Amino acid sequence: MNTELPKSFRRLDYLPPHYTFGQVELDFALDPARTIVKSRIEVIPGASFKAGTPLVLQGQELEFVSLRINGEAHRHFELTPESLSIHSLPNEGKDPFVVEIICICAPEKNTTLMGLYVSNGNFFTQCEAEGFRKITYFLDRPDVMARYRVTLTAREAECPVLLSNGNLLAIEKLPNGWHSATWEDPFPKPSYLFALVAGKLECIEETISSGSGAKKLLQIWVEPHDLKKTRHAMDSLIASIHWDEKRFGLELDLERFMIVAVGDFNMGAMENKGLNIFNTKFVLAQPETATDADFANIESVVAHEYFHNWTGNRVTCQDWFQLSLKEGLTVFRDQEFSADQMGSESGRAVKRIEDVRLLRQLQFPEDAGPMAHPIRPDEYQEINNFYTVTVYEKGSEVVRMYQTLLGKEGFRKGMDLYFKRHDGQAVTCDDFLMAMADANACDLTQFKNWYSQAGTPRVKVEERYDAAAKQYHLTLIQSCAPSLGQAVKKSFHIPLKMRLLTTANDQPEKLLELIEEKQSWTFENISERPVLSINRDFSAPIHLDFKQSETDLLTQFSSDDDAFNRWEAGQKLAMQMILENRLPDAQFIGAYRNLLQDQTLDPAFKDLALTLPAETYLYEQCESVDPQQIYSARRAFRHAIASELNPEWMQLYRQMQTPGAFSPDAISAGKRALKNLSLSMLLEADIPEAALMAEAQYQNANNMTDRYAALGALVVHGAPQAKVCLDDFYQRFSDEALVIDKWFALQSTRPPIANVEATLNTVERLREHEAFKMNNPNRVRSVIHAFCMNNPSGFHQKDGSGYAFWADSVLALDPINPQVAARLARALDRWRVFAQPYQNQMRAALERVAACSSLSADVREVISKALGS
Ligand code: TRP
Ligand code: ZN
Repeated sequence: MNTELPKSFRRLDYLPPHYTFGQVELDFALDPARTIVKSRIEVIPGASFKAGTPLVLQGQELEFVSLRINGEAHRHFELTPESLSIHSLPNEGKDPFVVEIICICAPEKNTTLMGLYVSNGNFFTQCEAEGFRKITYFLDRPDVMARYRVTLTAREAECPVLLSNGNLLAIEKLPNGWHSATWEDPFPKPSYLFALVAGKLECIEETISSGSGAKKLLQIWVEPHDLKKTRHAMDSLIASIHWDEKRFGLELDLERFMIVAVGDFNMGAMENKGLNIFNTKFVLAQPETATDADFANIESVVAHEYFHNWTGNRVTCQDWFQLSLKEGLTVFRDQEFSADQMGSESGRAVKRIEDVRLLRQLQFPEDAGPMAHPIRPDEYQEINNFYTVTVYEKGSEVVRMYQTLLGKEGFRKGMDLYFKRHDGQAVTCDDFLMAMADANACDLTQFKNWYSQAGTPRVKVEERYDAAAKQYHLTLIQSCAPSLGQAVKKSFHIPLKMRLLTTANDQPEKLLELIEEKQSWTFENISERPVLSINRDFSAPIHLDFKQSETDLLTQFSSDDDAFNRWEAGQKLAMQMILENRLPDAQFIGAYRNLLQDQTLDPAFKDLALTLPAETYLYEQCESVDPQQIYSARRAFRHAIASELNPEWMQLYRQMQTPGAFSPDAISAGKRALKNLSLSMLLEADIPEAALMAEAQYQNANNMTDRYAALGALVVHGAPQAKVCLDDFYQRFSDEALVIDKWFALQSTRPPIANVEATLNTVERLREHEAFKMNNPNRVRSVIHAFCMNNPSGFHQKDGSGYAFWADSVLALDPINPQVAARLARALDRWRVFAQPYQNQMRAALERVAACSSLSADVREVISKALGS
């Protein structure tokens, strides 16, 4: 056992830097084995400077070569594996001085994908959060903002393209087949936004005019064979630029904006100034290889990274505890953008439902588990572990609540003031809140609790209708379960949109602000007992404790004018029945039938209304989780919907065809979603011809959405045609890495079915497959993470075999890529809520991982928090 106590960082320990940087010049001689990095940095006293303080630079896995100060060799320094401390500074550091450092790194050996690394022969960087220190010794913290000039030198034959942040100043031919490019970024930035890319890449480009009439060059760089898959990303980028001008008055501030795609990447994408680097998964799309979901994800990730240019880059974070300042706000912005792209009001609701489903499936469990943290955490061991659904998705919900409380215009005023005050600065979540408060002359003191308290608040609803007095009385009581280090919680400021639904349809929508622990409202002149529609559009990220009769839920499911709550009522009814191990009754089936036949509703909405709550969300409703029982109850419920509505599914399958050329627009995508749900329901109902229909769709599809859905239906239902189609799919797309990822994921997420080998055996076979690569995160996620996190019924086996596979995988992955290993490590977070024998088996697997003495800080933090040690 490792006896050293893990180092913890605390938000309240923040100190401004002793030194800061002016101009930074970087010079790279790019070589996969040994890249020489020379830096020349102007150092100036920082906000907490004291004369005589040494300059302590961070550096990791670097070979130190030399140090000069003001042009002279300097010998007063000390090297550790993590730092370079420089002593005896000229005039005790009181005057600006110049540091020059030469060091060497080894990009081709770098499997962590942080810092400078090689992917498929090309060079890429990833610096957020603390990767720059793997490139050179530096003040690698976001509150040190400097101006960069970067020169890249390489062999022209190997690296014809040389990119970095900002504007291209010069390209130079050098002797012996070398060349160089010099780039200058006019905006000061923290080191985490630095990027370089070099190699054999090609681009599509387009010139647009921004709002003020300035010309902007947009480029998307990819490997040459992928050029034909870049159109959708370019369209998404152009739409994002126009949207940010229109909605927030924010213009692109550079002459050139570049996106680069890379096949080896730890996350989705990265907002480096003027040079965004993306996982290929969020750039490349063609109808033949990408699904509707891929098209939609590309649009939102391109928008997300572009929007960071203002929310993240122009105004950045003081320290990493403030991460949600940029991430929550930018997720909110990309969600609003995507909703606006949907066109119709019901399209907006579809987007909202999808976002809330994700929040409940992933963030609610996180907020109730051992890694629970406020959106602005107070403590971390490894910052990489805090790029969480809490910081991102709950963070976005918190930003959305400002807009709900202040109105769209009030929110815009707050944003304007935020940029007016803080452009060019590194700031905190409090600064954002104060801009919102001051711009609207309101007091948001209590709203701060959303930043400091973990856990999903619970709001209990008590209602009473007084027919004689024609009064409706409503009482709301809020609470929040204790979390680690927070036994008692203060009340939250909770905005709840509500409306009383009456047959007269005479009550307006209202916004209730729940501020006290318990608050009551009386509504007058209510002539009949109303049905309460509350937390409309999911105005607050809470659990609602509201015992409603099934009749009221059915009323809401068939007629609530808030599309979100209409969907919600159906989910609630289905959830209650599944948890009580019941099947849908005739009334519920009737309501489903009416909804499916309603011509005024979007197909995408119908698809969501007929999609049952996820297993992991059902787990959160249980005292003691029996995963196999939940799987069976949910599956039986689904089987009943499939059988009872058989004629409707057959009819919808025919009606929802989208003949002609493929278009990824929301209406067509919605039709395909409903058609493919129908196909899967026909297989679920064991209709004899269903498997033949799926096989025909698989063979004849002109797009990946339909081909993949048909294949999925065959595989998930264990149809005899599954094997041949899976083999065909692999052959057909063997050159398409992202499609092969789908082929792997489909098999790893297949639930266990009779007469088909156990899913774990399948996954073990896939891990031995020639196309499996442990150092490619997308491939690892498509097999290992997919099985451990997206296949609950396959993973949670009584004999603990799934957990043993998990432990082996975490231990194998950790030495290669700790960041990706630590994500996988989180699969057992909720072990304490499981029934036996699952719980003990999970604990044993956790303890086996914990016993490894060489764990990374990343995995160590996740495992020790899970075990509560
Ligand atoms: N800032 C990135 C985003 O949200 C997140 C990110 C990309 C990241 N790559 C990373 C975070 C690597 C940590 C490590 O858009
Ligand atoms: Zn982001």
